[in-house]
Amino acid sequence: MRQLLPRASDRVDPYDAYRPDDPHAPFLRLNMVASADGAVTDRRGRSGGLGGDGDRVVFRALRALADAVLVGAGTVRAERYGPHRPPEALAARRFADGRARPAAIVVVSQSLDVDIGAPLFTEAEVPTVVLTCAASDPDRRAAIERVGRLVVAGDARVDLAAGLTGLRERLGCAHVLCEGGPTLNAALLAAGLVDELCLTVAPQLMGGSGPRLAADLEPSRDLDLIAVCEQDGELLLRYRLTREWP
Ligand SMILES: NC(=O)c1ccc[n+]([C@@H]2O[C@H](COP(=O)([O-])OP(=O)(O)OC[C@H]3O[C@@H](n4cnc5c(N)ncnc54)[C@H](OP(=O)(O)O)[C@@H]3O)[C@@H](O)[C@H]2O)c1
Repeated sequence: MRQLLPRASDRVDPYDAYRPDDPHAPFLRLNMVASADGAVTDRRGRSGGLGGDGDRVVFRALRALADAVLVGAGTVRAERYGPHRPPEALAARRFADGRARPAAIVVVSQSLDVDIGAPLFTEAEVPTVVLTCAASDPDRRAAIERVGRLVVAGDARVDLAAGLTGLRERLGCAHVLCEGGPTLNAALLAAGLVDELCLTVAPQLMGGSGPRLAADLEPSRDLDLIAVCEQDGELLLRYRLTREWP
């Protein structure tokens, strides 16, 4: 992978390139892949058909740098989501950075319509967390607590800001990587909770009227471009967002 910005370099190591100066500071990074015409799903309604090797390498590096991977229940239902299993070399670098175990997967859900018999729960070395609100179904909450962990934030709706504070204070998850999807992204962006957007632009035109990176984003946001890498025609863009909502 080569880097074009902020400095030109023929070869960069994604773990080093994306590693924050303080890897344990509170940070929320959003990572998505989109086609050149802005589609975030392929024709099967998943993201798998969009990303190439460069996207996969960065995806793994970003997970290795995170304490927790936050994901919307819609994405878990649409994709085959499993627990974080870093490859050996990345696990060693993660360990050297003070992270002895894989990242916890944190599923945001109000309905609690999640398959607790799936490997995401049954095969997780670090228990999978479900972030929900007090109004969610108590029986489903109890069932989830038998196989994973539950963080309750908000009464009638999930309070994402309080949920992130809960993850930080109760589970020690400071550096959080959000992997979508568009509904969760929009809520996080609207709440001003995103520090950085990592966006892979795949060299494809997908057409159609499928979802974009953030559903229902109002008002629009400006982004500061801070880094650009490239591999096999894929652009790996990195944008900074300010925490304050304008
Ligand atoms: N290109 C990419 O990089 C990428 C990445 C991720 C996903 N995707 C694609 O995006 C699609 C899924 O997107 P999506 O927008 O439908 O799903 P999503 O954002 O992953 O999940 C939506 C669900 O998450 C829960 N949720 C999200 N925000 C919430 C909030 N603020 N409060 C309470 N619950 C909240 C709700 O779950 P409950 O319904 O359980 O209450 C909601 O129905 C899939 O096709 C997937 O392949 C693409």
